[in-house]
Amino acid sequence: MDHAWFLRTVLLLFALPGGWFKPVITPDAPHLVILKGGQLELRCHDDAEASMVQWLREKGRKIDGELKEDGASVIFLTSTQIQHMGRYTCENTQTGENSSIYVYVKDLRNAFVQSMVNGLLVREGGDCTIPCLVTDPAVNHLSLLTCAGTALPAGLTYITHPQRGITIRNVSKAFDGCYICAGQMDDKPVKSSHYNLDVRPVGRCLGFLEMVLTAEHEIHGEESDLDPTPPTLHIPKPTHLHPLIPKPTPKPTHLHPLIPKPTPKPTNLHP
Ligand SMILES: *[C@@H]1O[C@H](CO)[C@@H](O)[C@H](O)[C@H]1NC(C)=O
Ligand SMILES: *[C@@H]1O[C@H](CO)[C@@H](O)[C@H](O)[C@H]1NC(C)=O
Repeated sequence: MDHAWFLRTVLLLFALPGGWFKPVITPDAPHLVILKGGQLELRCHDDAEASMVQWLREKGRKIDGELKEDGASVIFLTSTQIQHMGRYTCENTQTGENSSIYVYVKDLRNAFVQSMVNGLLVREGGDCTIPCLVTDPAVNHLSLLTCAGTALPAGLTYITHPQRGITIRNVSKAFDGCYICAGQMDDKPVKSSHYNLDVRPVGRCLGFLEMVLTAEHEIHGEESDLDPTPPTLHIPKPTHLHPLIPKPTPKPTHLHPLIPKPTPKPTNLHP
C-alpha cells in the first residue's frame, strides 16, 4: 500500500514539468515520540530551486525553538513539554506545498494529556470531540466510558483518534454527563481525566446559526485540551440573532428619491 503510493508519487514528480517537490522533513516518519523533557529536532528543506520553507502548527500555535539554516528550517528543543505535542507542518512558501509530522510527547505518568478544561458545552445534534489525546501511540484500544462505570447512554456512537481524541456523533440531551477516555498500554488499562458534557438544546429558529456553530465546534474540537472551550460554543440568546435576520423590505417611501419626478404639467407653459 505504502509502496504503491510511493511509486505513484515518484511517477507524478517526474511527470510534472520542472519537477514539483514537497518539503522534506527529517526524520522521515509519520510521527515521532519524544520523552517529556527530552530533545526534539525537526528539519525541513525543499529541493525546489531557491525555495523557502517554514514550520506551522495547528490553529497558528506558537513555534518554539525555530532556527533557519541556509534554506532549511529547524525546530530544536532541548526540553520538550506537553504543549509541544501536535502536528507540525512544513510549508514551501513559494509553492504552497506542505508535508507534516505528528509529535507525541510521552509522559510516563499520564497516558492521556491532562486536561485543564473538563466542561464541554455541546449543541444538541452536533458532534462533540473530547480532547483526550494520547501522549504515546502505544496506547491502544481507545474507548469511551462513563465516569460512574455505567453503560453508555442508548444510541451514543463515537469514533476514536489518538491524535484528536474521541468524537461523539449526533449529541442528544440524553448524553449529558461525565465521561472518561480509556485505553490500554502494555496490556494495562489507562484512563484520561473526567470530562463533563453539558448538552444544550437548539431552538428551531436557530437553524442557520446552529450550522455555523457546529462547523466551528468541529474545527475547535480538534484542538488539544490546552485550549479552553471556545467561546463560540456559547448558546446565543435570541436577541443576538437579530443582526443576522434580514431586515424587512424597506417601505416604499424609502424609494422616493429614486423614482423620477412626474413630468411637469404643460399648464405651466401658458402665460
Ligand atoms: C497542506 O496542503 C494541503 C493540500 O495539499 C492543504 O489542504 C492543507 O491545508 C495544507 N496545510 C497547511 C497547514 O497549510
Ligand atoms: C440524531 O439523533 C436524533 C435523536 O436524538 C435522531 O432523530 C436523528 O435522526 C439523528 N441524526 C442523524 C444524522 O443521525
